[in-house]
Amino acid sequence: MLKDRNILLGVTGSIAAYKAVDISRRLKDHGAAVSVVMTEAAARFITPYTFEAVTGNKVYTDLFKDPFSHIELSKKADLFIIAPATANTINKLSCGLADNLITNLWLTYEGLSLIAPAMNFRMYRSPSVKKHIKELKKNGVQFIGPDTGSLACGEEGPGRMVDVPVIVEAAVMALTEKDLHNKNVLVTAGPTVEAIDPVRFISNRSSGKMGYAVAHAAKRRGAEVTLISGPTSLPEPLGVNTVNVNDADEMEKAVLKHLTKSHYVIMAAAVADFSPLSKAKVKNRKAEITSLELKKNTDIIKKIGKKKGKRVLTGFAAETGNNIDSAKSKLKDKNLDLIVLNDITREGAGFDVDTNIVTIIDKKSKIDEYPLMSKIDVANVILDRILDLKK
Ligand code: CTP
Repeated sequence: MLKDRNILLGVTGSIAAYKAVDISRRLKDHGAAVSVVMTEAAARFITPYTFEAVTGNKVYTDLFKDPFSHIELSKKADLFIIAPATANTINKLSCGLADNLITNLWLTYEGLSLIAPAMNFRMYRSPSVKKHIKELKKNGVQFIGPDTGSLACGEEGPGRMVDVPVIVEAAVMALTEKDLHNKNVLVTAGPTVEAIDPVRFISNRSSGKMGYAVAHAAKRRGAEVTLISGPTSLPEPLGVNTVNVNDADEMEKAVLKHLTKSHYVIMAAAVADFSPLSKAKVKNRKAEITSLELKKNTDIIKKIGKKKGKRVLTGFAAETGNNIDSAKSKLKDKNLDLIVLNDITREGAGFDVDTNIVTIIDKKSKIDEYPLMSKIDVANVILDRILDLKK
């Protein structure tokens, strides 16, 4: 996601400086080239060698050792993150002081920037820090955090640097093209569970990972996203309106409620096709159960297919085998624009894994097979294909 992107990571003198190592590692994992710049105070908390080992790049600490680094580094950067950012650095950045490499770079840098403050809550609420944060925000700088919680000094309050994944997500978000801006995307994900009694249920296998990845990717691309999710153990994607449901009936109601304003509907949920004819209010005794009567649930996507209007409707077909004919007939029968077929028997394409192998079929029977990819990459391919249909 951050391939070919250059990120400047400024680390200043806070106890949270050690967390910046993890930030640089994760940004690198996303494909970014990370150049770390440290203040002298930061180098007291953590050594430049640690960052050098993690990023594989030279770490800059001294303006005089690399005389033009304050210009060269900022020219090629796509994003400048300062994490952790101390009260001292924030105030200096706002005033335009240039007394170390980070503050010099700040003056020459003209692109996107993120600041993650870290300080004692008294410093954070001081009039000068407040004033300078306000000023920097006015100039388009994005602040992430701080969080409220226990601080290094043992006190509690606002001043903790936000968690590393939040900073990394903000970086990915900042650098993702917003080609879904002003679009509403409705996604279903996970299984539905159909209660037999308060203890037992029938369900379909699904971790929800594919649908959550679609919601996450759409959010990064600037969409307003509503995720209707059956029970999963996944964290709610940041910034996504997540509606939790249990059974197929609840999922249907939630989908219909949110359909009106949606432009793109992507239904990745493994909706249970059947539910018990009657749901017992108290636990059934197993000795008394001899058989289970089932009724068919509504095919939600088929219902949406009949009233979709101009919306682009994407469905999934989880098959045992690369059953293209079955996927094609589902596409036609349910009036879909795209269907994403995956053969769950293939290694890397089943449940609970972070990867998938898909074939995408469109209305004109164009069949495209994709290699093994992470689910977030598959999600982006699906979104690309949806946008292509609109061109
Ligand atoms: N789907 C749905 N409501 C259902 C069942 C499925 O909205 N009650 C949606 C799924 O979210 C998916 C698509 O339909 O996008 C295909 O689901 P699948 O279970 O593969 O297809 P079925 O129509 O149930 O076909 P079959 O059981 O014959 O494979």
